[in-house]
Amino acid sequence: MISVTLFSLALLLARSANAATQLDLEAIQAHFTQALIVPALIPTFDPTAVLSAAFSGAEASTGKHMDQKAVGPKPVVTVSSVQDSSLSGNFTIAMVDADVVGTDYGADGVNRHWLENGVTISDGSVSDTSANVITTYAGPGPASGSGPHRYVILLYAQPSTFSAPADLSAPVDGVHKFDLNAYVKDSGLGALVAANYFTVEVGTDSTSLPVTSAVITSTLASAQSSAGPSGSHSGSASASAPAPSNPPNNAVAVKIEMTVAVLAAGLSLVLL
Ligand SMILES: *[C@@H]1O[C@H](CO)[C@@H](O)[C@H](O)[C@H]1NC(C)=O
Repeated sequence: MISVTLFSLALLLARSANAATQLDLEAIQAHFTQALIVPALIPTFDPTAVLSAAFSGAEASTGKHMDQKAVGPKPVVTVSSVQDSSLSGNFTIAMVDADVVGTDYGADGVNRHWLENGVTISDGSVSDTSANVITTYAGPGPASGSGPHRYVILLYAQPSTFSAPADLSAPVDGVHKFDLNAYVKDSGLGALVAANYFTVEVGTDSTSLPVTSAVITSTLASAQSSAGPSGSHSGSASASAPAPSNPPNNAVAVKIEMTVAVLAAGLSLVLL
């Protein structure tokens, strides 16, 4: 029994390390909603892959506070999908400053820190060797005391009908405002395949931000269904999960919740 338990856990852990699961997708989706990035920055978000950004080897996991210096150079971006077929063709990658929770972007839009058309994905890694670099990656530089800014990295499918608007068809370096959604619509970009975000704060936060709720991964649909119909095992696992203390973007709490969800799933597999 114990060896079976360990085996199922190992299987589940190996799975989650290599390929995105439905639960991973739901977790990132829930993060974007709880951080109010959806619908403030992007109207909807229904990812088919999980995007990871590593800065000099340091993973910028969802919502994580990153040191400004560490995120200065361009990250290595990897993408893992539930179905690998969704990762062929051309893509557009962008990073924007979604500013603090509750920001109204108004007509000017958001600061663009990165924009490349025609990136491709090879073995799960985003490659820009044949990309059309419009805005070279520019690291975060939030004003001191302006609070934790959310830097959102977005990967859009770029169909062959894509046509860059005149003002962004040639390189425009430096950080400038643009209307992300208008750009996506006018250029004919496809689905937002994957996105992720990290936060950078400089100086002491003098703002008072709206409170956002934490993501409880064990309550997401996939965690519920993989924990089985009986509910009692998953129920007790969920109930014993630590209630996350509630700063926005609490990545550590989510990691714990993910672990609890995986454990609950493993346990129920054994019990079934
Ligand atoms: C990807 O972009 C390249 C360069 O613009 C183009 O030659 C190629 O046809 C595109 N591929 C697809 C599948 O759209």
